[in-house]
Amino acid sequence: MGSRDAERGRLAAERLGARTVLLDVTDDASVAAAARTVAADGGLDVLINNAGVEGRTGDAGVIGAADATADAVRRVFETNVFGVVRVSHAFLPLLQRSAAPVVVNVSSGLASLSHVSDPDSPAYGYPGVAYPASKAAVNMLTVQYAKAFPNIRINAVEPGYTATDLNAHTGTQTVEEGAEIIVRMAQVGPDGPTGGYFDVSGPLPW
Ligand SMILES: NC(=O)c1ccc[n+]([C@@H]2O[C@H](COP(=O)([O-])OP(=O)(O)OC[C@H]3O[C@@H](n4cnc5c(N)ncnc54)[C@H](OP(=O)(O)O)[C@@H]3O)[C@@H](O)[C@H]2O)c1
Repeated sequence: MGSRDAERGRLAAERLGARTVLLDVTDDASVAAAARTVAADGGLDVLINNAGVEGRTGDAGVIGAADATADAVRRVFETNVFGVVRVSHAFLPLLQRSAAPVVVNVSSGLASLSHVSDPDSPAYGYPGVAYPASKAAVNMLTVQYAKAFPNIRINAVEPGYTATDLNAHTGTQTVEEGAEIIVRMAQVGPDGPTGGYFDVSGPLPW
């Protein structure tokens, strides 16, 4: 389990029975060191790109169109998009050595252009720019990586609106409910889907 904070990682790992590795997805050296540690520790079968930020303005609103400076949007992309690229690039050589490698990119329902542009969808009213754009980019990375690495099952998932730090615990699902599709897609076998975008009920429109 990657964590950028050693102590928070240790506490979470204790509860899960996991081992931790220091990992800041925005930092090349940290990601490279984590990949070396995991390689030395036996390799990797499943990579879950879960780290994400929503990006907030000073008054704790989301980064909407009027506030969307390049710097504000870049900060969100640094974690949500370049973090996925950085970690995937560093860990792909390890995944290639696995018999049944899997990548799960934790996207969002707000990545769906279909939903965000549909007035009948709850996603329509979300005013943020940076976060949905970053997750739409994650979906495209998923499709392109899946084609480039046909031996790896690579999918994007939408966990659903889940009570976590990201939304100040306003989400309506438990973390266990939100984790369900992540865990399910982490366990797909070599015959499972790849290059897809799923929530707990099945495939989602891009
Ligand atoms: N909650 C929802 O309703 C919802 C809905 C759709 C998608 N998602 C996605 O689900 C994923 C998990 O989010 P969450 O809801 O569980 O939010 P969260 O509680 O804020 O968790 C995000 C995690 O990402 C870690 N992180 C942030 N920047 C990082 C970095 N540079 N390097 C390493 N780790 C970093 C955070 O670490 P620290 O503990 O050190 O801050 C935190 O543990 C995200 O990709 C999010 O976009 C969430």
